[in-house]
Amino acid sequence: MKKVIVTGGMGFIGSHTAVELANKGYDPIIIDNLSNSSLSVLDGINKITNKNVTFEKFDLTDSIATEHCFQKHKDAIGVIHFAAYKAVGESVKLPNKYYKNNILSLINVLDSMYSNNIPNLIFSSSCTVYGQPDVLPVTESTPIKKANSPYGFTKQIGEQIINDFVNVNNEISAISLRYFNPIGAHDSCLIGELPNGIPNNLLPYITQTVYGIREKLHVFGGDYNTHDGTAIRDYIHVVDLAKAHVKSIERLEKKKNEANHEFFNLGTGIGYSVLDVINAFEKSTGRKVNYEIVAKRSGDVEAVYANTEIANKHLGWKAKLNIEDMTKSAWDWEEKLNSTKS
Ligand code: WQD
Repeated sequence: MKKVIVTGGMGFIGSHTAVELANKGYDPIIIDNLSNSSLSVLDGINKITNKNVTFEKFDLTDSIATEHCFQKHKDAIGVIHFAAYKAVGESVKLPNKYYKNNILSLINVLDSMYSNNIPNLIFSSSCTVYGQPDVLPVTESTPIKKANSPYGFTKQIGEQIINDFVNVNNEISAISLRYFNPIGAHDSCLIGELPNGIPNNLLPYITQTVYGIREKLHVFGGDYNTHDGTAIRDYIHVVDLAKAHVKSIERLEKKKNEANHEFFNLGTGIGYSVLDVINAFEKSTGRKVNYEIVAKRSGDVEAVYANTEIANKHLGWKAKLNIEDMTKSAWDWEEKLNSTKS
């Protein structure tokens, strides 16, 4: 089977992508330092795929360990690079932690791809590179704005590093995937989002509130210039997002790419406000969300959602699951997660 190295493959999107790679006959080689995940995720991946997925535990900021691992798997057809810290708020408080980890890991991955002739890279980028766009929906040619956080800046720098690298090493091709808001969980409830401590993101905060772990959801801002005053995002089911990664590696493997570094927006093209998400959650689960509208969170943008035409056309991919599917799968996962804890 064709190996694909998946860095950060024990994370939320990485684990779902490892499953979809295996479903398509690839052999995912997961690299993770478990700094933001747990070994139980590997059990989930193996149960879903009925395989024994290879897991290499080390830190990608260690160039020697990275080179050693890439030599061992030099027959891989590509790398999907998820490994990075991703908490926007934490990145503001600990910028060096984010720059060192996210940038050094990427540089080590690129160096070892080059020295081991691994030809294809998929980079986990983000809609945060756009900041607050002047025009919506966002296309891939929407101007990149000054990042709102060191985390967002590491994604902008990462795309530029890859650009410069593939321009001088044209035997390597890359696709940067700009995610909008990934939510939900695999329908097996064997893998899903595992927030560390108090969730930063909306969906896990909602599911923990409804489960009784949190007292109430604070809705950040009720007076944005939107249909109901709350901020708008493009939420996408994590399984739809994972499938887009398989389509992307297939595109490079078959050399269908039209440039040595391509960019695709991965969203649904639909913007939902926070209150829309709460309503969808209540409709899909029959459970009530206890919330209070409070002040805006600094660094948040008012509204961002994707124009997905380029991704739909060039990847032959379109998000299929709707907001009720997403919120229901997130709740089913929260219930399963806590039932196994008790
Ligand atoms: C969504 C909306 C909040 C929590 C995230 C990642 C970022 C990128 C995109 C990958 C906002 C509101 C949230 C809460 C709330 N992903 N909210 N109460 O900020 O859009 O960015 O997805 O790269 O890295 O951080 O996602 O889920 O934090 O917020 O009202 O307790 O929900 O204000 O409008 P965000 P989020």
